[in-house]
Amino acid sequence: MQENSIKMYEDILDSFMGGVVYIDLSMRILVFNLGAERVSGISRKMALNRPLHEVFHRDPWFTDLMKDTLGGERTYTEHEGSIHRTFAAPLAVSLSTGVVFSKDGFVEGALAFLKTPGLGVKALEGFSPQGEKLSGMSFFAAELVHEIRNPLGGIRAAAQLLSRKAGDSVLTDYTDIIIRETDRLDTMLKEVAAFTAPRREVNKEINIHRLLDSVIFLIFGNNSQVIVKKEYDPSLPPLSGDDGALVQVFLNLLKNAAEAIGEDGNISVVTRILTDFHMSGTSKKAARMVSIEITDNGCGIAADDMDKIFTPFFTTKKQGSGLGMALSLKIVREQGGYLNIESTVGVGTRVRVLLPAAY
Ligand SMILES: Nc1ncnc2c1ncn2[C@@H]1O[C@H](COP(=O)(O)OP(=O)(O)OP(=O)(O)O)[C@@H](O)[C@H]1O
Ligand SMILES: [Mg+2]
Repeated sequence: MQENSIKMYEDILDSFMGGVVYIDLSMRILVFNLGAERVSGISRKMALNRPLHEVFHRDPWFTDLMKDTLGGERTYTEHEGSIHRTFAAPLAVSLSTGVVFSKDGFVEGALAFLKTPGLGVKALEGFSPQGEKLSGMSFFAAELVHEIRNPLGGIRAAAQLLSRKAGDSVLTDYTDIIIRETDRLDTMLKEVAAFTAPRREVNKEINIHRLLDSVIFLIFGNNSQVIVKKEYDPSLPPLSGDDGALVQVFLNLLKNAAEAIGEDGNISVVTRILTDFHMSGTSKKAARMVSIEITDNGCGIAADDMDKIFTPFFTTKKQGSGLGMALSLKIVREQGGYLNIESTVGVGTRVRVLLPAAY
């Protein structure tokens, strides 16, 4: 294929949701559409003109199948496999391949079509294998919240009344417990309700640094400089989305970090723009991505717990509701972003949030 015709095909292919990769006889990548970026998490700039086996070095099966195709052994239709991604867990794909012939009938290259069980929002599913658990529970959650909150209000009011009647007697210790615990349940139910409430489509321009600063101040107050090290990229573009929802995300994540560190632990908050890496989440438009990393040197998460932390109500804390991570993941996805967590017991935890920039 000629260079200029490749460019034209690329433009057409970008509007196609699947991943398209074209390699020449030497297995160099000449076409890498937006869908291929989405599937692999590798930018076009990183992929183009490089050997297939280098770019997909963690997926040798892909190179093998393309070699078969190019060598005329066979082509593949919807071959099941999985592709490793830069910022996410491996993604299940189906690969179809085809040979491209020149005008005079010689093999010129090979094409790969990578399909996922539904690109776009679905492409995020593999990011956390627990994600699917969210959808099932939202059906009954709204009903349940409603049914529990009403009598809870009654119980609280009754306890208050009792407390007033009991005066200074020892009974108020018990009524205080009832009131405190009903309040805690109520807060938890409000969080559950957040799963089911239809999200408003908000597209405000957000200064993420200002948002992070306010959340950090809210949690750590005047002590924040001692505990939180900020490394903000001053050239960061604004984000576009729901600022209220993002406050919730970073409140949850920073609260978790704060709860994980001991007396003299540290937290770092690093922001940067990912150049040449644009992904589209819920919107069809490709956007540059902003990365916000929250790293703590706290207790870390046991390997056995890692696949449970996004499950609603999973908590290792006495007073935890276990909804912080599940809710954060849901919101980040709704904003067209990604959330990824890495942790080592006794060393610490790093949570990375990728969100689309406004421009
Ligand atoms: N930074 C972290 N360091 C160590 N463990 C963490 C961290 N973040 C999350 N976890 C683990 O994941 C679990 C779930 O977190 P999540 O925020 O969903 O709930 P929670 O913090 O227990 O309760 P809630 O946030 O509702 O008060 C936590 O109980 C904890 O075990
Ligand atoms: Mg939490």
